[in-house]
Amino acid sequence: MSSSQIPVAVLGATGSVGQRFISLLDNHPWFKVVALAASDRSAGQKYSKATRWVLDVPMPDYVKDMVIVPADTEAVQAKIVFSALHTEIANELEPAFAKAGAAVCSNASSYRRGEDVPLLLPEINADHIHLVKQQRANKGWSGCIVTNPNCTSTGMTIALKALDNAFGVKKVFAVSLQALSGAGYPGVSSLDIMDNIIPNVANGGEEEKVEWEPRKMLGKLNGNKIELADIKFSAHTNRVAVIDGHTVCASVALANPIEPEAAIQALRDYCAPESARELPSSPRPVISVRDEADRPQPRLDRLNGNGMTTVVGRVRRDPILDLKFVVLSHNTIRGAAGASIYNAELLVNEGLL
Ligand SMILES: NC(=O)c1ccc[n+]([C@@H]2O[C@H](COP(=O)([O-])OP(=O)(O)OC[C@H]3O[C@@H](n4cnc5c(N)ncnc54)[C@H](OP(=O)(O)O)[C@@H]3O)[C@@H](O)[C@H]2O)c1
Repeated sequence: MSSSQIPVAVLGATGSVGQRFISLLDNHPWFKVVALAASDRSAGQKYSKATRWVLDVPMPDYVKDMVIVPADTEAVQAKIVFSALHTEIANELEPAFAKAGAAVCSNASSYRRGEDVPLLLPEINADHIHLVKQQRANKGWSGCIVTNPNCTSTGMTIALKALDNAFGVKKVFAVSLQALSGAGYPGVSSLDIMDNIIPNVANGGEEEKVEWEPRKMLGKLNGNKIELADIKFSAHTNRVAVIDGHTVCASVALANPIEPEAAIQALRDYCAPESARELPSSPRPVISVRDEADRPQPRLDRLNGNGMTTVVGRVRRDPILDLKFVVLSHNTIRGAAGASIYNAELLVNEGLL
């Protein structure tokens, strides 16, 4: 490890999101993985033995012989802890790591609604990172918890930010088509999903997240609090037989209705706030707008910008609301592991580690 690199750990390292962390952290310019943690099932084993690798890129050499440790603050010593734990486990473990002084960058939903917890997509609400100062004061922690949103909210909220800045968004009606990898491994059984669509994700919990999380991210940081955006959401969430890449079909009502061409221009012109523009994981571009009538498509467009770019297409007039479009985002990269790494880079860049 070079002296300038920051030691980081991955909790839930053997899972679907954990594997993305390991892949994206291979040769990261700022971060060095020093610990991999998982459940008792895996602890004590070499990573290559304990893990059923499911990504379509090879397992990086650096992890193969690392021995998995239990997910506790004694075994895991790192400045940044990336959490790919399920909610019920994250509930307990993430505060313990923050208390022990680590910056926890979490994928879990446990603390996203916390008043002093940033729910971040740096390309739209980088300023919300400053909530960690309030969190540290409230909790007496030297570490902190920073969260990224659920993977279905991610791409949609980035597109909505560009439209909200330019024309004011009032209402959103959204229908998701969510990839299988979003359910972890092994996820949904093949007999349930082949030749099928399941119109319910996470027992209805997904819709609640998609209807609430964008309001926090599109909200304003006022002093030490976020004022939720005054936007009404209605969401249907569906699991479909796609491996990676969540698609959302959205219709929006705008305060200042405009022609689709103006919306396309606003989406294309959208730039991240300065502090989030030049980080190692910054999406380049933030939003890519496709002109073809049959794009975006998960298989063709999910790896745009190394999986960090939000891809929008089919921007057109909506006969009931004002405008409709399709948005695609890579759920385990921009929607999960890449999101937490980008958040950690912002923490470092803002001197908040
Ligand atoms: N998949 C996505 O697209 C996506 C997107 C955004 C957010 N998320 C969120 O990310 C989190 C992880 O999702 P996933 O899809 O990666 O799940 P997953 O594939 O089921 O992996 C779960 C991981 O947690 C570990 N684990 C289980 N019990 C543990 C315990 N008691 N202590 C420590 N580690 C434990 C597992 O280790 P073992 O192998 O040892 O059991 C495994 O490494 C969830 O909160 C999910 O909601 C997922």
